[in-house]
Amino acid sequence: MAIKLTVNGRSSTVDVPPDTPLLWVIRDELNLHGTKYGCGIGQCGACTVHLGGQPVRSCMTPVSAAANAHITTIEGLAPEAAAPLRQAWVEMDVPQCGYCQAGQIMSAVALLAKHPNPTDQDIDEAMNGNLCRCGTYVRIRKAIHRAAAAKQQAEQNPDHEGGVSSRALAQVGVVNS
Ligand code: FES
Ligand code: FES
Repeated sequence: MAIKLTVNGRSSTVDVPPDTPLLWVIRDELNLHGTKYGCGIGQCGACTVHLGGQPVRSCMTPVSAAANAHITTIEGLAPEAAAPLRQAWVEMDVPQCGYCQAGQIMSAVALLAKHPNPTDQDIDEAMNGNLCRCGTYVRIRKAIHRAAAAKQQAEQNPDHEGGVSSRALAQVGVVNS
């Protein structure tokens, strides 16, 4: 069955059974390998993509359900949304083996779109379904706070380049946390 998809702003048509998991279409038909297979049963979050801006588990989403929505994978994140998180991930040395991290970033982008200045509780609720067998949860939480601070600073001072000020970090609770 021919199904039209819009992935990362590009339209394409795939010929697959309508109940094919979106994950396999993304990886095997569209050759976008940043989205990972973890459990295959909606329990780990490694396969997280955005469907209409909302994080979904692509291993549990039939491709037919994605036909009329905009799909975003880790490769297609808007730079203004992804860059602060990627930088914070590096600064906080978050990844260990790295396998879960694309899914973690996808959930974190969706979180910051909804809560620009998230509390620890906001973070824990939003990231709850993203498992990390390496146990990077504490660093992930700190990195999300840091990215939130960087985004706020960039919005307040678009000409600023470089690191995040201690004042901005204090505003979002990164220092002394
Ligand atoms: S692979 Fe989809 S939630 Fe684990
Ligand atoms: S960094 Fe290894 S599973 Fe998360």
